[in-house]
Amino acid sequence: MAFPYQIKTLEDYHQVYRRSVDDPEGFWADIASHFYWRKQWNQVLEWNFKEPTINWFLGGKLNITENCIDRHLGTLGNKPAIIWEPNDPEEHYRVLTYRELHTKVMQFCNVLQNNGVKKGDRVCIYMGMIPELAIAMLACARMGAIHSVIFGGFSAQSIRDRLIDAGAEYIITCDGAFRGNKDIPLKSTIDDALVGIDFVKRVIVAIRTHTPVSMIKGRDVWWEDEVKKVETMGERYFPAEEMDANDPLFILYTSGSTGKPKGVVHAIAGYLVWANYTFLNVFQYERGDVHFCTADIGWITGHSYIVYGPLSAGATSLMFEGIPTWPDAGRFWEVVDKHKANILYTAPTAIRSLMGFGDAPFEGKSLDSLKVLGTVGEPINEEAWNWYNTKVGKGKCPIIDTWWQTETGATLISNLAGVTPSKPTYATLPMPGVQPLLVDENGHEIHEMEASGNLCIKFPWPGLLRTTYGDHERCRLNYFSTYENLYFTGDGCLRDENGNYRITGRVDDVLNVSGHRLGTAEIENAINMHNGVVESAVVGYPHDVKGQGVYAYIIYNGLFDDENLIRQDIIQTVTRIIGAIAKPDKIQFVPGLPKTRSGKIMRRILRKIAEGEIENLGDTSTLLDPLIVEEIKNGKL
Ligand code: PRX
Repeated sequence: MAFPYQIKTLEDYHQVYRRSVDDPEGFWADIASHFYWRKQWNQVLEWNFKEPTINWFLGGKLNITENCIDRHLGTLGNKPAIIWEPNDPEEHYRVLTYRELHTKVMQFCNVLQNNGVKKGDRVCIYMGMIPELAIAMLACARMGAIHSVIFGGFSAQSIRDRLIDAGAEYIITCDGAFRGNKDIPLKSTIDDALVGIDFVKRVIVAIRTHTPVSMIKGRDVWWEDEVKKVETMGERYFPAEEMDANDPLFILYTSGSTGKPKGVVHAIAGYLVWANYTFLNVFQYERGDVHFCTADIGWITGHSYIVYGPLSAGATSLMFEGIPTWPDAGRFWEVVDKHKANILYTAPTAIRSLMGFGDAPFEGKSLDSLKVLGTVGEPINEEAWNWYNTKVGKGKCPIIDTWWQTETGATLISNLAGVTPSKPTYATLPMPGVQPLLVDENGHEIHEMEASGNLCIKFPWPGLLRTTYGDHERCRLNYFSTYENLYFTGDGCLRDENGNYRITGRVDDVLNVSGHRLGTAEIENAINMHNGVVESAVVGYPHDVKGQGVYAYIIYNGLFDDENLIRQDIIQTVTRIIGAIAKPDKIQFVPGLPKTRSGKIMRRILRKIAEGEIENLGDTSTLLDPLIVEEIKNGKL
């Protein structure tokens, strides 16, 4: 049985799209009426992009967990909500039905409450990919606390910055996390992050790896002990807090063009409607399907398409702890077969890395259960698209290329699986409610259909961010001030003669490394912490597997004994300050950087050199010292 607001034909899509533009409020009111509200809204939308002010379903009261769990209990109580596949194929998988999830979330609400967490408090979650991570998020949401999940690859320093920015007094973590053949010591990283911080009241530690950890008296408690206490006290039911539609649901930090990551804030009702609507339409989820999104919940993709989108639809979400290449490069295919996954949603970087292993990993794997394939996070090249289509989809699964961002909550541009046509390397058409446009360098809208420009959106959709935590002006400056009355995505884009969009990559100083978003300024700040570094400039360059690699030009004036050792030291520094995901792939030591007379680094030139376009650097006459360019060219790695 189809879901009531699933689009089923191309014609239907065009009609629905038209209505969403002509009558957005009526359109979204109809969709929202399919959710469970404690109190109906009295105004659908209030907005202006100047300040910006964006509110959806004003006056409405609800709790997202009643929509993601409670309302399914009657019909789906015994159906799996989460299937969890561990890192090690030898370990047994776990299944949580909707009823079990309900019980566990309420138990953990009691744990949070017993430990002092209240509505509105910020709770930082730094865990591996285990069901307790989803339980922790949902428990926060049920009691009205605001979760901020931090990806397990971030360093102590990054956690510390985020804790301070969010004023998070509570932390939920694990002793460690398994990823491939590694055991990542999460609790000890939290301990490092907390040195000298005295505002954190409680750290709740779940056991996963049995790594020895230090538990600080009065601050640290074990998840399992706290749950046991709740059980023996007989506390079971935990009523969901009645929340305002526009109360914040979560904060998720993401990189921008400045050195400091921003806390993107999403609000409850709009985000719920958007994650659910796009989940059902983009993937064309059907009752009983197993949805396998390989992202980490530390990123927005996991929030929207492992937790909130699927659960709000009563879907079965397959959560995988491991990595695609361990114990071997057939691991994804094994997981698909084992749990009969119907939808596989992954990143181009994973596809490219698996392509390198040839056909052997497919031996003995059927992949027959697959119906829909999806990609997200970065542009997909044609070769990877074709490989995904033929080797994984066997030519019978539509591929959806979903373009979106942390700030957009869920997918904005994508084909709808099997309903609207796909076009390799194109995200294709906007979702209903999304009004994209291209602007030229002067900020004027480009009206020709076939064009390239900067991608903006001119009308709000329910999943648009509301603010950046603690600094609304930053939100305005970043997204709403470049072009008047438009949300600026930071992405460059092509549009074909049929109105299909193809995202070409960031036009600001943001890199996309293996689908992870990193600011060049953020990496430069980390490199500059090394005591021998005078100055640095970071740019991206095309990388076969990662999509973009990190190329760092560094002026170094420390002792220059062993270049390679210095490189390793600098990489260590970046790993300490941000995390291993931000490590430079190439470090070139340079005598100077190409600067204009006003002292601005000409990144365009550095980018071209890193990309290998040495002959075509454009005008360098405005440089303070044009000769420096020759020296940099000569030393290119
Ligand atoms: O440049 C776009 C790229 O990823 C950026 C957003 O990164 P993040 O906020 O981490 O969210 C990633 C997961 C949604 C965008 O500005 N991007 C995302 N999806 C695509 C993409 N580029 C091309 N094609 C996509 N499908």
